[in-house]
Amino acid sequence: MHPGFPLRSAGTVVAIDGPAGSGKSTLARLLARELGFRYLDSGAMYRALTLKALREGAGVRDGSAMAALLARTDIRLETGGEGQRTLLDGEDVSAEIRTAAVTEAVAHTAAHPAVREGMVGLQRRFALQEEGGVVVEGRDIGTVVFPDAVLKFYLDASPDERARRRAAQSGGRPEEEEEAILRRDGADESRAVAPLRQARDALRIDTTGLDVGQVLARLLGPARERLALP
Ligand code: DC
Repeated sequence: MHPGFPLRSAGTVVAIDGPAGSGKSTLARLLARELGFRYLDSGAMYRALTLKALREGAGVRDGSAMAALLARTDIRLETGGEGQRTLLDGEDVSAEIRTAAVTEAVAHTAAHPAVREGMVGLQRRFALQEEGGVVVEGRDIGTVVFPDAVLKFYLDASPDERARRRAAQSGGRPEEEEEAILRRDGADESRAVAPLRQARDALRIDTTGLDVGQVLARLLGPARERLALP
């Protein structure tokens, strides 16, 4: 039997955590493509629920209302050729979950223990649903959702570099992006449940000053080794 076989069976998870703008999404997508794995952007699930709350005028700060909302919400993620589609009750909301209004409100959604519990269940089901592996990115993937992931990365970069990347995407001003990033870091790191932090067994990669190809090479080396790929 191929020595890597058991590591690539259903439920094989590579976890990528890190703060906003660290390059997680781009790199998780590229790594998944290189490995022939599916890809799961867990933040998209928190964003989809937030979008529904905003549309319905439900208070994102109300934990029990948000948990009740999640219970009557169908969130699906589909991986296709050009990335992931996010379906909210059957509607493709992939673009709408990236608006500033959702980005501003989503940290409240992600702070509620009952909401997180529901999301973790959905994420685990996603990873087990099909044969083959999955690259999962988020904030608590290596620490809480998949503590037994076969490989864990923690990506980071300086706040000003992360702000520059965000500004390049959004067309906004780097100074404003940096303020927003520091606010989100604070919310993600200080929440009581599943705060953003590096898992003890995660490989930390500082992506400051590196381009996408350079970071991908740093992920692929350990991934090939760990998964016994050629
Ligand atoms: O990665 P992102 O910007 O799409 O994440 C959106 C929000 O969801 C952000 O506030 C962090 C939170 N999040 C989380 O708490 N846990 C995850 N596994 C993924 C995202």
